[in-house]
Amino acid sequence: MRVGILGSGLMGGKLGTIFARAGHEVVFSYARTEQKLKTLGREAKGKARVGTPREAAQDADALLLAVHWSRIDDVLNQAGDLSGKVLVSCSLPMNAENTELVVAHSSSGAEDLAMRFAKVRVVSAFNTVPSEVLFSVFEARRRAGRPSLVYCGDDSGSKRVAAELIRDAGFEPVDAGPLRIARYTEPFALLVAQLAYEGKGSPGLAYRFERFA
Ligand SMILES: NC(=O)c1ccc[n+]([C@@H]2O[C@H](COP(=O)([O-])OP(=O)(O)OC[C@H]3O[C@@H](n4cnc5c(N)ncnc54)[C@H](OP(=O)(O)O)[C@@H]3O)[C@@H](O)[C@H]2O)c1
Repeated sequence: MRVGILGSGLMGGKLGTIFARAGHEVVFSYARTEQKLKTLGREAKGKARVGTPREAAQDADALLLAVHWSRIDDVLNQAGDLSGKVLVSCSLPMNAENTELVVAHSSSGAEDLAMRFAKVRVVSAFNTVPSEVLFSVFEARRRAGRPSLVYCGDDSGSKRVAAELIRDAGFEPVDAGPLRIARYTEPFALLVAQLAYEGKGSPGLAYRFERFA
């Protein structure tokens, strides 16, 4: 697939690199310096290049949205007309201090995004993992016992695209249901972050669902 990265920081930089190494064609965009994007493009060691958000969106089969909540309008406006595009969002609706969700309970960041950018096919994924685990999960992808990764969305075609990217990144995709389930997965992401950075866990944390039947 052709995957446009909107936001090439901790999440976008790593996931873009992983998608390129998994064989996808990647365009990194949106960092504060051109140099950062160029380094990512060079070090991805796959089919990767750099561009503007508009270039990343052009002909993309999927877009990864990986910016702070406060930058969403800016990056999506720069990306131009995204009608019909698959937008896989790992962005959490956090306040400026990154201490609290600013959309929760009766809605979610993903639903807010889908409502504001009505023609975009939003899937919520990758926001329940700390970026630190991404490379090691990818490297262990051929071993048994892959960690699970939940995703949700309302459009079956975009969910298939997201599931493929999740699998290629080394996780077992777990379809959690429609986009409104992001009301539960987004706070879950905060639990994961709490365990990873402040609890007794470590950023190496990833999760696996077991079925007891
Ligand atoms: N990090 C995690 O472990 C994690 C886990 C789950 C979910 N998330 C969510 O994923 C999203 C991205 O998080 P992140 O940790 O990847 O953030 P990040 O490292 O700050 O990445 C954001 C990207 O946006 C770019 N950017 C910010 N302001 C810009 C501007 N004015 N112009 C151009 N580019 C700009 C940054 O540029 P620079 O690279 O130059 O700084 C960076 O490339 C957030 O919504 C977060 O809540 C993160």
